[in-house]
Amino acid sequence: MGQAAIRTDQDQSGIVIRPVSTVLGAEIIGADLSRLPTTPEFERYRDALHTYKVLAFRDQDMTKDDLVAFSQLWGPLGEHIMPGAVRDGRTDINVMSNAGPDGKPNGKHTDVTAKRWHTDRSYMPVPAMASFLYGVEVPLKDGDTLFVNAAMAYDALSDEMKRRIDGLQAIHWVEHSRRDGGVALATDYELKKAPPVKHPLAKTHPATGRKAIYCGCHAWKIEGWSEEDSRPLLNELIAHATQDRFIYRHKWLRRDLVIWDNRCTLHAATDFDTKNHLRVLYRTIVL
Ligand SMILES: [Fe+2]
Repeated sequence: MGQAAIRTDQDQSGIVIRPVSTVLGAEIIGADLSRLPTTPEFERYRDALHTYKVLAFRDQDMTKDDLVAFSQLWGPLGEHIMPGAVRDGRTDINVMSNAGPDGKPNGKHTDVTAKRWHTDRSYMPVPAMASFLYGVEVPLKDGDTLFVNAAMAYDALSDEMKRRIDGLQAIHWVEHSRRDGGVALATDYELKKAPPVKHPLAKTHPATGRKAIYCGCHAWKIEGWSEEDSRPLLNELIAHATQDRFIYRHKWLRRDLVIWDNRCTLHAATDFDTKNHLRVLYRTIVL
C-alpha cells in the first residue's frame, strides 16, 4: 500500500509540501523556521507528519535556539542521556559532529550505534514521539539516513503474524542495545533513567489509528518469554520491516531539517567518509 496521496500541497503562503517517495517522506520548500510558524502553518506541518511520517524542511537557517523553540511546539523535549551528549551544559539539544578540536574531520562516525535499525528512545518509559535533526554540515556523498514505514510493514504482515503479535509486549532495554551493538555499556545514570520497559510490539498510532511494528535494536525480549525464545520473532519482524520495499533513503542537503515520527518508523544511519568530510547535526527529541 502506497501513501494515501501522492500530490504536491501548496497553499497561499507559498510553502510547498511534496512527497519524495511512495514509501514515506515529504519535503517542505519555502518554510522559514528561524521564526515560529503561525498556527495554520504548524497544523499543516503536523498533518503532514502524520501523513508522510518523515518531513525534510529544505534550506533552513537555524540556530540551536531556533531548533529548540520549533521542537518545543510539538511537545516537551527529551533529555539527552547518552554519554557525551551534553554539550555546552545543555541537555535539550545534542550536537552530533565528527569535527576534531581543530575543526577538521576526526575520522569517527557521529553515532555508530545508530547504524542499526531502531526507533529513538524505545528503551525509555516515555519514548521519543519525534526526532529532529538539522544538517549544519553534511557530506556531499553518503551519510544518508534510512527510514522504514513501519505501518506499511505491519499492513503487509500475514493475518496469522498480525494475530500472533497483536497483544504482545516487547521489553526494551538500553543495556541490551549497547551490549548487542558492541559499544560502551550504559552508564549508571542511563540505567537508572532507563530500566527495562515494555511497549506493544504492534503499536497503534494515536492520531492515525494505524498499527505499526514497534521493534528495533533496543527490543530485548517479549514479555513473559525468555530472551532465547524471543529472539527469532524479534529478528523476523525486524527483517520483514527493513525490506527495500518499506525503505526511503534520505540524501541529506546542507540546511535540511529532517523530522520523523518514531511511533510508526524505524531508521538507521549509514557510513560516510569520516576522515575527509564533516557531518555536523543538531538533534532534539520530542517526547
Ligand atoms: Fe536514532
